[in-house]
Amino acid sequence: MPPSPVKLTLAPDQPGPQISRHIFGQFAEHLGTCVYDSIWVGEDSPIPNVRGIRSDVVSALREIRMPNIRWPGGCFADAYHWRNGIGPRSRRPRMRNDTWGQIETNAFGTHEFLDFCAQTGAAPVICGNLGSGTVQEMRDWVEYLNAPTGTVLADERAANGHPEPYGVRYWGVGNESWGCGGLMRAEYYADEFRRYATYLGNYEKSKLFRIATGPGLDDYHWTEVMMRECSAPRFNPGIMDGLSLHYYMNGGVPPAKVQRTLHATGFGAAEWRTVMAHAWYVDDLIARHSAIMDRYDPAKRIKLIVDEWGSWYAAEPGAKTSTLFQQQTLRDALISALTFHSFINHAERVHMANAAQVCNVLHSVLLTNGPVTIRTPNWHAFHLFAPHQDAHRLPVAGDIPQLEDDGLTYPRLSTAASRTADGVITVTLAHTDPEEPVEIALSGLPPGAKVHARILAADTLDACNTVKAPDRVAARDWTDFNFTGSTLTATLPPACIVALTFPS
Ligand code: AHR
Repeated sequence: MPPSPVKLTLAPDQPGPQISRHIFGQFAEHLGTCVYDSIWVGEDSPIPNVRGIRSDVVSALREIRMPNIRWPGGCFADAYHWRNGIGPRSRRPRMRNDTWGQIETNAFGTHEFLDFCAQTGAAPVICGNLGSGTVQEMRDWVEYLNAPTGTVLADERAANGHPEPYGVRYWGVGNESWGCGGLMRAEYYADEFRRYATYLGNYEKSKLFRIATGPGLDDYHWTEVMMRECSAPRFNPGIMDGLSLHYYMNGGVPPAKVQRTLHATGFGAAEWRTVMAHAWYVDDLIARHSAIMDRYDPAKRIKLIVDEWGSWYAAEPGAKTSTLFQQQTLRDALISALTFHSFINHAERVHMANAAQVCNVLHSVLLTNGPVTIRTPNWHAFHLFAPHQDAHRLPVAGDIPQLEDDGLTYPRLSTAASRTADGVITVTLAHTDPEEPVEIALSGLPPGAKVHARILAADTLDACNTVKAPDRVAARDWTDFNFTGSTLTATLPPACIVALTFPS
């Protein structure tokens, strides 16, 4: 049992770095039904849509204030040729999506993606094709998107319905170039990045933010080489703005000797604990990659962009493995809460992150099933954390008990706090113990303030939302606490997320 209660102290007058809203971003790949049937249903669909883009999905993403979305992959990005996805849809080529073994109609292309971004209010994050493309193809895509009319490519964009430059800013130069993106060595990719990035233009409305492929998991050599070769090349020291990191919680991280088989549903407390430990491993990864980055870039100009993260379980019985569909339970919401807390801990370096993936694939916030769209428990985690967007981090001190599983340590309770420009304070808490409640005493709060508290918990550890029970796991108002003076005391139930908001 932890010391009773766990004492936490907020320092509301010591604002730290800004928590970039972009750490709450999403990712959509042409994979399974992430794009087709979920984001894109087509203009003739009986499912309500605006210009082919599904309206219930758009409104659910607006509710969590989705700040950005990465597209078109993933591995698919390094096989994608953007010209196949522009112009009249009836003339776009129907082809095989070699990456994921399905048919690609190209109905959802550049203009449709940017329309989706406009409808949701998200900033586009485009990942260009370095693996099977050319420098010319990538630089032309940037010109097509961002140049003012008056060039052949910009005029083509105008003829295709969008005279105004799109102003795309975030640009990935390849994806997982050490793996599906070309199986390159860090030394080779570093040179490729320098070459490609050189020709990607800046336009009046949009200085490009160039994101290099970064390490997968614990490939510290990759980070070392990229920082050594690309953080300040002599003739263009600012060429690299971001370095990506991919980490999936799949039970296979070191120091685990054996890959754990983890299931999306039907698990108990023991597997819950393993997942919590493997989820929190992200904090170690970020700390270690950041330490390498610090040596080359102490001013933290170059940002860490965690552009793929989330849970990845064994395939659901009967599901086609290549679609990467999996249910999302309360546990996945806890993974998100732990991960956000880690990003916030490292707000000085982590500028953007993209949960993989937005609908129907891996760590999704939404599951669509015919005309129905389900908000997963994970959606509720994003919703509870939205008040941290662009707020300034506040310190929370406390003697948090640490737990251990599979050779990894993780906090019994993780927390973060922030204050917005207009003075709203938010404290989020993630309680990772699946069986025992925990008492807390949180001091340093604004005395006499009105508090709005929400909790996400469930009747079983693997509770999830389905067509029959779409709101089984949903955040609800919470009043089970005592707030006297500047201290809030409460007993948190096992396995829950709490968000406390104190208006200014
Ligand atoms: O998100 C699924 C896949 O995982 C992505 O395509 C790839 O980048 C990663 O390996």
